Order: sequence, then C-alpha cells, then structure tokens
Amino acid sequence: MNVKMVFYSYSLVLFTSCNPAGHCGQMPHRFISAEQWAERFDAPERDAWQKPDDIVEAMEMEPGMFVADVGAGTGYMLEHLSAAVGPQGQVLAIDIEPDMIAYMQKRIERSDLSNCAAQLGRADDPGLATGRFDRVLILNTWHHISDRTEFARKIRSGLSIDGRLIIVDFAPGAGGEGPPDRHRLSLETVRQELESAGFSVTVREESLPYHYIVQATVQ
Ligand SMILES: C[S@@+](CC[C@H](N)C(=O)[O-])C[C@H]1O[C@@H](n2cnc3c(N)ncnc32)[C@H](O)[C@@H]1O
Repeated sequence: MNVKMVFYSYSLVLFTSCNPAGHCGQMPHRFISAEQWAERFDAPERDAWQKPDDIVEAMEMEPGMFVADVGAGTGYMLEHLSAAVGPQGQVLAIDIEPDMIAYMQKRIERSDLSNCAAQLGRADDPGLATGRFDRVLILNTWHHISDRTEFARKIRSGLSIDGRLIIVDFAPGAGGEGPPDRHRLSLETVRQELESAGFSVTVREESLPYHYIVQATVQ
C-alpha cells in the first residue's frame, strides 16, 4: 500500500476530501506511517525546489549552535543541520508522530549523525528546554499547528537571548506540491501570530519557488 492509499483510507474516517499531497478538508491532520511519507518527503527531486542549502544559509548557523527542527517528519533536514552546527553543536528533531521519531532515530544511526537526537513533542508544546536553542526551524509545518500564537510563545521561551525562529512554509498562490491555498497562511497572518507571541519579524529574501522564509527574533 503506498502513502496515498494509507492516507486516503485514514481520511475516509476523518475527512471529506484530500489532495494528492495528502492535505485534507481540515488541519491539523496526522502523518502516521513514516516509511510511506518518506517516499514523498525524501524524494530525490525535492531538493530542486525545497533548496535545503538555501534554508541552511537563511538560518545563519554557526558551529557549536543548538538547533531544533520542530515538525521534522522523516528528518529531511537532519544531515544539513548536523553539518552546519558541527560536532560541538546539537540538533534536536521534534515531531508528534511516534513513527517519525523511530524513523529519525534509525536515520541518525544509519548516517552516523552523532550530534543529532529525535524527541517526541506534543501538538501544543514542542517541549524545548528554556533558553537552550540558538535556532528553531519549522519547515512545512506551521500551517498544521492549531494555536500558533501559544505555540510560538513556547518556542520563544526555548530560545536563547540571540535565538531565532525560522518558519519556512508554502506561500498562498505560489503552487507546488504543498497544501491547497485554503490551508496556506499569508505572510501577514504569520507575522501577526509571531508578533503577538513577542517576536520581532523579518521576511527573508530567498530563492525558493513555493515558500516564504520568515525569521523571528526575541524582542
Ligand atoms: C508536512 S510534514 C513536514 C516534515 C518536514 N519538516 C519536512 O519538510 O520534510 C509536517 C510534520 O509536522 C508534524 N507536526 C504536525 N503538528 C506538529 C506539532 N504541533 N508539533 C510538532 N510536529 C508537528 C507532523 O507529524 C509531520 O511529521
């Protein structure tokens, strides 16, 4: 059974209609089988439009930094983040799906990413240690979160004084393999949510065809 079939079966119970990217009539929705989602998330052709190196550049990481990837999925960004922070740094990959955590733990072992770990989070709380993180990345996940302002407050408390939250998500009207426009969040919405949580927000100049990159700093 492929990822679409599994997702469609699941959605028969919970939702009314899904598009080919697995986005259904409402958010949030589940990402149950990591192995099957990996066919999409880790497809070799993804790099051409997701541009992980550009995301890394936008995050302006330095060796030794502590970084969290919230909603890390199958760990698409792990190798990139691991290399950016180096052996003295740490990468914590957080997801709410136990199968994604198990999948990433195997990936970390297989790829010998000794500065990475995977940790189960809650839908309403990523569980970041207070003041610990220099960078938090949220890639293709912000639109899945329910109370985003409250979630952003929790991320803010996990950031160091100079810490930054980087949200990369699908822009409305930009096309691509992501959610339909009705589930995409405008830059203005994201900005308001983050400012309400006490962040100062800038929109990065970038080269991704379907996404925006929003950078939020602790005020
Ligand atoms: C579309 S996938 C993106 C995965 C990965 N960032 C990527 O781009 O390949 C969204 C992921 O976020 C996770 N997720 C959804 N809501 C979450 C939350 N509140 N906290 C942490 N992870 C969440 C899902 O389980 C799923 O693995």
